[in-house]
Amino acid sequence: MKILYKVFSTPEELANGFAEEFISLIKTTGKKKKFVSIAISGGNTPKLFLSVLAEKYSGSIDWKVVKLFWVDERCVPPDNSESNYGMTEKILLSKINIPPEQIFRMRGEDDPSQEAERYSDLIRKHITHKNNSPVFDIIILGMGEDGHTASIFPGSEKLFSATKNCAVTIHPSTGQKRITVTGKVINNSRSVFFLVTGSNKSRIVYEIYRNSEDSRLFPSAHVKLCNGRITWFLDDESGKFIV
Ligand code: 6PG
Repeated sequence: MKILYKVFSTPEELANGFAEEFISLIKTTGKKKKFVSIAISGGNTPKLFLSVLAEKYSGSIDWKVVKLFWVDERCVPPDNSESNYGMTEKILLSKINIPPEQIFRMRGEDDPSQEAERYSDLIRKHITHKNNSPVFDIIILGMGEDGHTASIFPGSEKLFSATKNCAVTIHPSTGQKRITVTGKVINNSRSVFFLVTGSNKSRIVYEIYRNSEDSRLFPSAHVKLCNGRITWFLDDESGKFIV
C-alpha cells in the first residue's frame, strides 16, 4: 500500500489540484477498461470539489465511461437538504451528460436495512471483483472532526473487517441513520482519495500520518488498501503538522 500526502494553500487550490488528478486518472483507467467505477462521499469538502469539477472541468471527462456510486447516504429522501445524492445532483449531475443508467444512488428514503442489502447486491453486480471483493477504481472520502470516514464512526471499526459490502450506521451525535459501504469495499479499492481541510482536523491527520497508537481510535486510520494507493489532499490548515 502506498500513501501520499499533498498539501495545498487553500481548500480551493486543493479542489482544483484534485480535479486535475481525478480527470487524469479517469482518462488512464478509461483506456484500460470499459467503465471506471467511482464512489463519492458527502460533506463540505467533497462538495467543494464537486462544485469545482462542475464549473471548470465537466467537459474534460468522458462521463459515458463513468459508473457513479456513493460511499454513504443519509437516510432521508433525495430532495432533503441532508441528502448526499441530492447535493451531488444539484451541483454536478444536473450539469453533466452521464448516462442515467450509470448513476447508482443509495435510496435514503427506503428502509435502511433493505437498502443496505439492495446496494450490496448492486455493487456485487456492477463492480469488478477480486478475491470475492468488489474493486472500485476510485473512492473519494472525507474525514469528520472525530476521524470518521464514509459513515463509519468511532466505535464501529469492526466494519473494516465486515464481510458485507454495506451496513446501516447511526450518527453518534445526531442519531441520524446512515447507509455506508464497509471497510471491506474501501480497502479493496484501487485508489482512495481523502479530501480534508481545516485546522480542526490537523491533529487527527498528524496521528494518522505518524501511524501512532492513538490513530487507531479514528476510523479513517483503518483505511489501509490491500493493493491500492491512498492520497491525502490537505490544505495548509489540516496539513499543518506534517509539512
Ligand atoms: C457524509 C460523508 C462524511 C464526510 C465527512 C467530512 O455523508 O457526511 O460521507 O464522511 O465526508 O464527515 O465532511 P466535511 O468535509 O463536511 O467535514
